[in-house]
Amino acid sequence: MLRLPSFADPHVHLREPGSTDKEDFYTGTCAALAGGYTALLDMPNNPVPTTTEAALEEKIGLARAKIVCDVGFNFGATPDNGSEYPRIVQRVAGLKAYFGHTHGNIIFEGLPAMLAIFLSWYPAERYPHKPIMIHAEGATVAAVIGLAALYNRRIHICHLSKKSELAVIRAAKEKGIAITCEAAPHHLFLTEQEAAPDKLGAYAKMSPALQTEEDVRALWQGLADGSIDMLATDHAPHTRAEKDSSKPPFGVPGLETTFGLMYREVAEGRAGFDLARLVELLAIAPRRVFGLPEGEGEVEIDETDKYEFSNEGLYTKCGWTPFVGMKGQGRVRRVWLRGQLVFEDGKVLAASGSAKILSFEG
Ligand code: NCD
Ligand code: ZN
Ligand code: ZN
Ligand code: ZN
Repeated sequence: MLRLPSFADPHVHLREPGSTDKEDFYTGTCAALAGGYTALLDMPNNPVPTTTEAALEEKIGLARAKIVCDVGFNFGATPDNGSEYPRIVQRVAGLKAYFGHTHGNIIFEGLPAMLAIFLSWYPAERYPHKPIMIHAEGATVAAVIGLAALYNRRIHICHLSKKSELAVIRAAKEKGIAITCEAAPHHLFLTEQEAAPDKLGAYAKMSPALQTEEDVRALWQGLADGSIDMLATDHAPHTRAEKDSSKPPFGVPGLETTFGLMYREVAEGRAGFDLARLVELLAIAPRRVFGLPEGEGEVEIDETDKYEFSNEGLYTKCGWTPFVGMKGQGRVRRVWLRGQLVFEDGKVLAASGSAKILSFEG
């Protein structure tokens, strides 16, 4: 058995309020415990986006009653909601800005909107653990690095998918720009081929899209050499009915599959890094970057357990995984949160509403 610090995920979509057909605070946090996570940061792209203090308060109230692992929130940026920030900044992990096409209706493209958002958030030294979390691709990644440098804003690049994006992030780090980034497992284990209609089709459609084998190799290298700071699942469940429709939404779930996928690569010597680095990527770095409490959760893993991922027995309400048929190693057997056994052998033991809303003073 391995005993590790529990994992923390800076990027999940728990879908409440507004899309509880896909997931809710209870099912999403149960999926988190099953995957070895005890702390999550939820994203603001709900049907009524979390871009006002009232929407944030409603979300916190709903979460408080249901969560079985700790949850914090990222606030949604618009070019003109800066007046909300002084009222919400103590209660959020960061400001989420969508600068490219994805699921949801808070997407802002073009320099005027990007500039307004950058200028209304706080300088890097004012809140060193509250970055602007950025959804951007391609040249827009270079553009936000430029804005971060010019206006001294801390940024975190979400779900990095391309070799060229990693190259500019590396260069930014060498220049001392306040930047961190994350990679998601779907971009590490699947390529654009898997999104073909005769393969996973819509079940492999997410934003950013799956890339080439060369991009995948570059991301693994970035995880190994430290230029990618952490793993994030970008857990983004959608129902089967939606995925089977003529206009399938972007996004795939990930909380229950990430550790097993990653650990198998480590155990079989293909990852290019060891278990200590995997723990850094899943547990240590997210807490350090976002200022989350440390030492509050532990996970026990049967590292000898090998299995195949399937759609059976998942806690996520969407009931499917894009990794079906792929092999995993290392099963989460027990999870503790602040000394309480909250998950054991496939069963959630924590009562609904027993976990903590993460607050972010300072
Ligand atoms: C996310 C979603 O469904 O909310 N989808 C996705 O493909 N990643 C949105 C996002 O993270 O951009
Ligand atoms: Zn610090
Ligand atoms: Zn995104
Ligand atoms: Zn996302």
